[in-house]
Amino acid sequence: MLNKNVEGILNAQINKEFYSAYLYLGMSAYFEQLGLKGFSNWTKVQAQEEMEHGMIIFNYVQERDGDIELQEIEKPDNDFQNPLQVFEKILEHEKEVTSNIERVANLSEDECDRATRHFINWYISEQVEEEAQVLDVIKKIKFFGTDCTILYHLDKELEEREYKSSNYPNK
Ligand code: FEO
Repeated sequence: MLNKNVEGILNAQINKEFYSAYLYLGMSAYFEQLGLKGFSNWTKVQAQEEMEHGMIIFNYVQERDGDIELQEIEKPDNDFQNPLQVFEKILEHEKEVTSNIERVANLSEDECDRATRHFINWYISEQVEEEAQVLDVIKKIKFFGTDCTILYHLDKELEEREYKSSNYPNK
């Protein structure tokens, strides 16, 4: 049986993961409008990953005989101005998600819920990877400035990203 406080924070995290998917989908649509197909692809793949993150928690709560309580998904930010600004927003967002995940880890420790503490470890590692990937794109955009040729090549690079189902253990 899942501890009620832990159940609550996991339900909140399901909502945050689906909000993330919405946020990335909006970004993907923005890049598509600009004709930046690679940037659009990258953010769309990320949206798929976020939905999977939400589903893994959803399945875990059920596996622990917890109650699922779905909340309203907030309208995502859509104030997008240029690729650098969007990726800076992504980094800011992912840092916030990292803090949320750390709160899940801390609460599961406080409640002596070792299973959830173990479960959330994968998300801690995933956040390290996500922040690093985003920072890599930001550095490239900043380094190459407004050189359109380089932006074109970066767009091509981001077009290669493919959605792969998560390697979450025991999924
Ligand atoms: Fe599911 Fe981007 O964190």
